[in-house]
Amino acid sequence: MLGARCLLRAVRFCSSAPCPRHKPSAKLSVRDALRAQNASEERVKVQTFPIRYKERHPLEYLRQYPHLRCRTNILGSILRIRSEATAAIHSFFKDSGFVHIHTPIITSNDCEGAGELFQLEAAGKIKVPEENFFNVPAFLTVSGQLHLEVMSGAFTQVFTFGPTFRAENSQSRRHLAEFYMIEAEISFVDSLQDLMQVMEKLFKATTMMVLSNCPEDVNLCYKFIAPGQKDRLELMLKNNFLIISYTEAVEILKRASQNFTFTPEWGIDLQTEHEKYLVKHCGNIPVFVINYPLALKPFYMRDNEDGPQHTVAAVDLLVPGIGELFGGGLREERYHFLEERLARSRLTEVYQWYLDLRRFGSVPHGGFGMGFERYLQCILGVDNIKDVIPFPRFPHSCLL
Ligand code: 4AD
Ligand code: MG
Repeated sequence: MLGARCLLRAVRFCSSAPCPRHKPSAKLSVRDALRAQNASEERVKVQTFPIRYKERHPLEYLRQYPHLRCRTNILGSILRIRSEATAAIHSFFKDSGFVHIHTPIITSNDCEGAGELFQLEAAGKIKVPEENFFNVPAFLTVSGQLHLEVMSGAFTQVFTFGPTFRAENSQSRRHLAEFYMIEAEISFVDSLQDLMQVMEKLFKATTMMVLSNCPEDVNLCYKFIAPGQKDRLELMLKNNFLIISYTEAVEILKRASQNFTFTPEWGIDLQTEHEKYLVKHCGNIPVFVINYPLALKPFYMRDNEDGPQHTVAAVDLLVPGIGELFGGGLREERYHFLEERLARSRLTEVYQWYLDLRRFGSVPHGGFGMGFERYLQCILGVDNIKDVIPFPRFPHSCLL
C-alpha cells in the first residue's frame, strides 16, 4: 500500500489533463507513478499491472479492464472527447432555442413497440401482477420520444439526452444494451425536409465544436486507431447530405453486383450490409433514407396516404462505417388516423393519453433520435461501440 503522501504525489503526476484548449497537453506519466515509494521506502509492486508502459495495447485487449483502461492515453482522449461532445450538443440545442427535458428512465410504455424492454421490479419481490412496485409493469426506457411529444405541446422545441436501454440480443459492434440517445421533438414541422435540416445541422455544428475544442485528443485517435478518418470526416462535413427514398434505396440494392446475405426486397427492413452499401454508393457522404413502408415502422409515424406501396414519413440517416445513426420522422398528428393505427395494434387502451395529445389541440410535429455512441464512432473512426462508452453493457456482460 502507498502512504497517502506518496500516493498523492503519484496521482498528481499521473492525472490526465482536461481537453487541452487553454492548457498545455499532459502526459499520463506511468514512470512517475512507478517511482513513487510507500512509507517504508518499498517500490510499488506493479509487475502485475496489465497495461504496459509504452506499449500500445489494442482496444480489444483494454476492454477486459474497464476499471483501468481510462488511464491509458487513448481511452483518456476518447472519454474527454465524449465529454466535450456532450457539452457541444447541449450548446447546439440551447443556441437553437430548445428546452432541455429530463424524460423518465422508468416508464410504462414501449415507445418503439419492438419489445426490447428490460422490465423493472424491486429486488427479491414475488412477481405477481398486483404486487408490482408501480402497480403496472414498468420498464427501462427505450426512447424518450413519447414524453418529449407531451412536452413539445407546451414548449414547441424540446430535447432530451440520456441513457436508453434495449434488450437486443446483439453482440454487434454498433449495439449496446445501455446507450445514450439525443432526441429532439419540434412542433409546427410539416415536412421531412425541415427535420432533416436540423439533423444535419446538429451533426455538423457539434462535430465542428468538438474538432476545434479538443484537437489534440482527436488527432491522437486519428493517429493511433483510425488513419484516414480525418479526410473521411472532412468529406462528410463539407458536402450536403444526400436524400433518397426507401423505394429508391431498394432499387439501388437490387441493381448491386454485391451478393447480400439478406436479399433486398421492398417491404423488408434495411440490414446493416444494405446501409453500408448505400453509403458507399453515395460516395461516402451521409444519406437520408425517407418514406419507409408503413408496416416496418411504429404506430406513431405519419401516414403518407400513398399507394399501392403504403409508406410513412420516416427518416433514417445512414453514415459511413456505421450505417444508421439517426432515426426519426413526422408524427401522426391526425386523431382519426392515429386512433385507427392504435386499434389495429390493440394499443388503444394504454395510449389514451397519447390520443389526448391529439384530441386537445394538435399541431404537425416531428422529431428524431441520434445514438450518441454511434455518433462518436462515426467522427472518430472507432470500430467498436464498446470503446466509446466508459462502462459498456451488452448481452452476457455487465462488468463493475
Ligand atoms: O431508430 P431508433 O430506434 O429511434 C427511436 O428510438 C425514436 N423513438 C427516436 C425519436 O424519434 N425520438 O433509435 C435512434 C438511434 C438509432 O438510429 C441508433 O443510432 C441508436 O439510436 N440506437 C442504438 N445505439 C446503440 N445501441 C443500440 N442498441 C441502439 N439502438 C438504437
Ligand atoms: Mg431506427
